[in-house]
Amino acid sequence: MVDFWWARPDLRYVSNRLLLGGHDLAAAAAAAGGPAFFYSGERVLDNLRRLKRALDATGMDSSIRYAMKANRFAPLLTWMKMSGLCGIDACSPAEVRHAVQCGFDTAEISYTATSVSDADLAVLARQPGIWINADSLSMIRRLGRLMPGRSIGIRVNPAMGVGYGDNDLLCYSGDRTSKFGIYREQFTEALELARQAGLTVDGIHFHVGCGYLNAQLDAWGSVLRECRWFLDQLDRPRLVNLGGGLGVPHVATDRPLDLDAWSALIRQNFSGYGVSVWVEPGDYIVKDAGVLMLQVTLAEEKRNTLFYGVDGGFNLAIEPAFYNLPCEPVPAVLNTDVAEAWAPSALKQATIAGNINEALDLFAQNRPLPVMREGDYLALLNAGGYAAAMASNHCMRSPATEHLLLQGVVA
Ligand SMILES: Cc1ncc(COP(=O)(O)O)c(C=O)c1O
Repeated sequence: MVDFWWARPDLRYVSNRLLLGGHDLAAAAAAAGGPAFFYSGERVLDNLRRLKRALDATGMDSSIRYAMKANRFAPLLTWMKMSGLCGIDACSPAEVRHAVQCGFDTAEISYTATSVSDADLAVLARQPGIWINADSLSMIRRLGRLMPGRSIGIRVNPAMGVGYGDNDLLCYSGDRTSKFGIYREQFTEALELARQAGLTVDGIHFHVGCGYLNAQLDAWGSVLRECRWFLDQLDRPRLVNLGGGLGVPHVATDRPLDLDAWSALIRQNFSGYGVSVWVEPGDYIVKDAGVLMLQVTLAEEKRNTLFYGVDGGFNLAIEPAFYNLPCEPVPAVLNTDVAEAWAPSALKQATIAGNINEALDLFAQNRPLPVMREGDYLALLNAGGYAAAMASNHCMRSPATEHLLLQGVVA
């Protein structure tokens, strides 16, 4: 029996084939032809339900606004809408339009963007139902001119950040001055500007980084404490938006985020205010629900390194190259049974190389893996968030197809 850190009842080998949500991934990839993302609809709902239970445990009124920047595949968004479990956080006019096209009412959409233009604001002005979080003094001034009388949130910057593995690249706030939100020293001016502009500031918003797990929960608790100062400055606070950033395990030593501890921190810090609590996770909802299926195009040793080349590159799943996020490649069909194929003596150190002409286009290096042959299928796990959504056609390589797996159906 091999104990894979990533295995779950809905993601595991059955005899020698990898299944997601009951679907044989290699067979689905062969039918799709070429690089393909597969997303498990059931896993997305499990993630949403687990998060909702944790929010319910705070005893506070709450709302989940899925950050669609993580994954905007229309069938997936429609599936989420049908579940009734979440609204949307959008960060561009195109995302707003897309959310509406996928069935979300504007009252279910919040807008948290940066460096917004007048053209962006003109779109929002036509949608009075959308909740807007302002992230600069300039934005507050312009909101006041375009939409006086509107209730808004202010995105604040507590000058503290959290991110997966304390990776600085994943922190949106911290020692280094960042572009996001309004700092403490400008907050009074922001409130005064809003008052003069005829805007009502009903809430604060903060998003301080991505991928935090249990090791970062203490730091996240300090962020919450710091953000109470901002809430204390409002006349009649109605809501606090905690942003996204909840992480998922990437390596064997990671544990799933302790949602009991997470919700206890929220309760301790905010239940006394009588406010609603909103969260806008992206990755936590979709990342571990998706895999990217690639085919081995090259199995060859160069000097002392065994390369498995694959038919997609960092243009399809950029996070390992961009953020140094660990990537988990898993053969989708084993040449023998699981125990034999994954026996330590059978594994070979291999480097998984993409098909983009850039030296950093390596998904994993010197990873002990079962032997694969050219033509075999490989699954990259945790590809449900910030992969397809950030894809490019660098080197004129085509994007991968996307597919929603439902019970017994591939959409
Ligand atoms: C404002 C805001 N909210 C939510 C998110 C979602 O973050 P995550 O996918 O880490 O939950 C992001 C991501 O960049 C963001 O910028």
